[in-house]
Amino acid sequence: MARVLVTRQLPAAGLEPLHQEGHTIVQRLDDEPFSHDELVAAVGDVDGMVCLLTDPIDGAVLRAGAAGRLRVVGTAAVGFDNIDVATAAELGVAVCNTPGVLDKTTADLAFLLILAASRLASEAERDLRAGRWGGWGFMDHLGRDVHGTVLGLVGYGRIAREVARRAEGFAMEVLHHARRTTGFPGYVAGLDELLATADVVSLHVPLTEETRRLVGARELGLMKPTAVLVNTARGPVVDEEALADALESGGIYAAGLDVFDGEPVVNPRLLAAPRTVLLPHIGSATIGTRTKMARLACQGVCDVLAGRTAPNLLRP
Ligand code: DGY
Repeated sequence: MARVLVTRQLPAAGLEPLHQEGHTIVQRLDDEPFSHDELVAAVGDVDGMVCLLTDPIDGAVLRAGAAGRLRVVGTAAVGFDNIDVATAAELGVAVCNTPGVLDKTTADLAFLLILAASRLASEAERDLRAGRWGGWGFMDHLGRDVHGTVLGLVGYGRIAREVARRAEGFAMEVLHHARRTTGFPGYVAGLDELLATADVVSLHVPLTEETRRLVGARELGLMKPTAVLVNTARGPVVDEEALADALESGGIYAAGLDVFDGEPVVNPRLLAAPRTVLLPHIGSATIGTRTKMARLACQGVCDVLAGRTAPNLLRP
């Protein structure tokens, strides 16, 4: 039986695959995040690891693991920009993630941000809580309609398609852009054209060197002054300084953000920006979905350790 490092607390039902296969779970009692040095030290004595998107699984961690007996890393997330998958492949360490199980939940949250940002929900609630609501005001908290507008999806993977399904219920026209033609109706080959056309732009690309700062000052400048930007993908996909400029100057209307560059630190200009809804990276945060994510990550680790082909194995 193997030793599997689980870097943070996971729902008990998520750990079941590890228990069923009789593996020893190595876990901290205090649920504090491992520092990079602590990870390097801990990974040398385990066969597998279940990590989170907040754990930096870089070359040093992977080499320390491979120098011992590490064979697999399962991340309880669909995004894996925190893992050096190229080095993992070189070292023969398998990497698994959690595709498929969080699409609907994350799409729900993207839609929540579309609605909340367009309808100025955060500002309205802040006013109410702060005692600034003087009564029903005909001209107060006037947001923008979502129904009947044009939604532009950047990226057209599983989560984006779930957002598109929800948009149908709001009678939105749905366009999407991806690097390669998707063959689906609504495909727009040029990102610039999509940005200039959409009333709501929702980002659904993984973080890679190609997508880092994909939306910067130039791209925000192409968007309509009435447009809303929603990001549930990864913070560094957006240039946050440029976004703060656009919100402050009215270059775009509003933003809904669930992800940030340098999490958990949030750019103070975004904290102060008008017409902005900010959430602490809770796209997949429901009990049911987080349990499925934990379970899938643990199952992938078990599959690799047992010599089975894990369906959620990343193939760099
Ligand atoms: C992921 O899985 O990559 C999300 O960002 C967290 O659910």
